[in-house]
Amino acid sequence: MSVDESIEYSSFEAAQAKSREIEADLLVHPERYRVLTGDRPTGRLHIGHLWGSHQNRVRLQNLGVTSYFVIADYQVLTDHDVFQNIAEFEKELVLDYLSVGIRPEPGKTIIFPHSHVPELNQLLVPFLTLVTNAELDRNPTVKEEILASGQKRINAGMYTYPVHQAADILFCKGNLVPVGKDQLPHLEITRMIARRFNERFAEGKAVFPEPQGLLSETPMIMGLDGAQKMSKSRGNAIMLSASEDETAALIKKAKTDAERHIAYDPEKRPEVANLLKILSLATGETPEAIADRIGDGGSGALKKALTEGLNEYLRPIRAKRKEFEARPDYVRQVLLDGVAQAREIGQRTLDEVRAAMHMEI
Ligand code: TRP
Repeated sequence: MSVDESIEYSSFEAAQAKSREIEADLLVHPERYRVLTGDRPTGRLHIGHLWGSHQNRVRLQNLGVTSYFVIADYQVLTDHDVFQNIAEFEKELVLDYLSVGIRPEPGKTIIFPHSHVPELNQLLVPFLTLVTNAELDRNPTVKEEILASGQKRINAGMYTYPVHQAADILFCKGNLVPVGKDQLPHLEITRMIARRFNERFAEGKAVFPEPQGLLSETPMIMGLDGAQKMSKSRGNAIMLSASEDETAALIKKAKTDAERHIAYDPEKRPEVANLLKILSLATGETPEAIADRIGDGGSGALKKALTEGLNEYLRPIRAKRKEFEARPDYVRQVLLDGVAQAREIGQRTLDEVRAAMHMEI
């Protein structure tokens, strides 16, 4: 079975153009936006997460945008068989958030697991009536995840989790969703649900906003094998929380090529180019300038420079993580405060939803 390419990411260019427009407006009107984004609690974050998305979240927070971060623990049930460590992973995620600079603050920056917010989950019921089975069946990201999970029998939660994700976004009326390309089909479903809800149940009144995606400009970095996306399960990732020695050992094993002279050539030499790109993200130099400097030093010198540059970049993040690791009560409190605030806003939304649907008593 192959993924249907024809409908895949058809609106990518449009989404990019819109993102640039929003970026400009964000600088002048951060108060117009409410960010909602999130992660599944499946493990610690790695540098691909940091540069691909979390750094961007911190930037938006620091621009003064109200930000909700959902820890999508229910979503883990759709394609994982091991649930024993979900609570532990949630705390790890909070530690990673705190260490990269997300600062929980009442009414401003809120972190919560959606399993603790009944008001959010309740929206799933009316939302499920606003999409068709065929629409859910077409979602290319869900198809890819089904293939990747190797599941033979697909549970209904897998097909419907994009609707659940719409509830994540809309329960607090999030209108800006920083996402990677793979999440665009889900965002399309959220927009459709918001639009259809307003038309069908609210006589066109905008109970829900149609949220915009915000694509990050960072180029995707590959794993240390240079061949696949960086991910913990593929064993090609450097975790934010890795020690300096672990980082050195991973980079030592990274794939390069037989050519001695180091040059930046993403087409012909993807592995070397990827290491240069990672170092460039850590130091702010261009990959070309780094390649020039290393030149005939070969991959040994490149790996040494990368180890030093990356460890230096991650040092303050790792130090901050250690500080928060020593404060488990604070980490728990962050989640409890987040849940309380999420429930409050969810209750207000649910009241409006019931009123729109003529279900008040
Ligand atoms: N599906 C997202 C992922 O796999 C996680 C997620 C859950 C999310 N709810 C969300 C992302 C809402 C953005 C907005 O990474």
